[in-house]
Amino acid sequence: MGKKIFSGVQPTGNLHLGNYLGAIKNFVNLNEDEKNSCIFCVVDLHAITVNQDPKKLRDNTRETVATFLASGINSKKSIIFNQSQVSAHSEAAWILSCTARMGWLNRMTQFKEKAGKNKEKVSSGLYTYPNLMAADILLYLADLVPVGDDQKQHLELTRDIAQKFNNDYSEFGGKDFFPIPEPLIFEESSRVMSLRDGTKKMSKSETSSMTRIELRDENDLIIKKISKAKTDPFPIPESIGELDNRPEVKNLLNIFSSLGEEPILNILNNYSGKQFSDLKNDLSDLLINRLSPIRQELIKIDNDEGFLREVLNDGAIKAKEKSEKNIKEIKKIIGLG
Ligand code: AMP
Ligand code: TRP
Repeated sequence: MGKKIFSGVQPTGNLHLGNYLGAIKNFVNLNEDEKNSCIFCVVDLHAITVNQDPKKLRDNTRETVATFLASGINSKKSIIFNQSQVSAHSEAAWILSCTARMGWLNRMTQFKEKAGKNKEKVSSGLYTYPNLMAADILLYLADLVPVGDDQKQHLELTRDIAQKFNNDYSEFGGKDFFPIPEPLIFEESSRVMSLRDGTKKMSKSETSSMTRIELRDENDLIIKKISKAKTDPFPIPESIGELDNRPEVKNLLNIFSSLGEEPILNILNNYSGKQFSDLKNDLSDLLINRLSPIRQELIKIDNDEGFLREVLNDGAIKAKEKSEKNIKEIKKIIGLG
């Protein structure tokens, strides 16, 4: 049976290998299955929970859409749009913030990490951010959400919100109204780690770009970053069990495995006992092989402003059509209007 799929990516620039393997590559595969209906959203309303330069935000929104397209998401087979252009997201976020409980939000580890010691000074939007994410998903009655591991807790919250809404309004047409969405997390690629510290996630916000492969990196830079990636003094092992406590080596093998769509064990069979330089050379080749076509497509799209505009306009029209129908239903159930 085909699935209703929804996912979102923040337009914060520097899209990297973690975004590609953890999210976008899976979007492409799901989108290729004709039975699925897919919606991919650039979540600019989420981005403004922290300070943004308006011009950069607009550029980054375009860059994220361009990356979706360059990676192979087909805009004819899916809906690609920009969250702020579809007002039902903000409306649903408010409504669902009245369903979500304070105690649930208080448990969100991403907020704790992002706010750090600054809890009193961060925006209240950063705190209620997961309600908006729940709204994105539930507004389209989605049942499957492909994301990286870091979003698992937000997905659990979304499920709790959906369940509570359905229960609270069960006598008013809410019974089973929202499907309970499932996260779709692919083990090997769900946490791509920093090239310099295998215990930290590869991230856009890390100051040194040597920690990550960016999707616009030239081939030479990819080779340089991989050759400088941290390893350890021990030989490449034979079994997966021996990778425990070797986060950097595990990360390189995970990247190899998910990019080449090959089980880690095969890779270990090929490289155990060999030098890290052999593994790194082949990994660089594989990265170049997979990423340079995306980079070339990005450059093509850079030169075609009209194309992006058309994709976004078209996507917003389709997303509005679906979301307006559902927000009307939601309001009716609650007794609004
Ligand atoms: P963000 O850029 O934070 O909106 O993330 C967009 C998508 O990429 C989400 O599904 C994240 O879970 C995923 N993602 C971000 N960083 C990584 C990473 N280092 N490894 C795997 N997935 C990631
Ligand atoms: N919170 C997600 C992130 O930071 C982005 C996001 C917003 C999202 N809305 C979503 C992901 C809905 C999946 C579904 O990566």
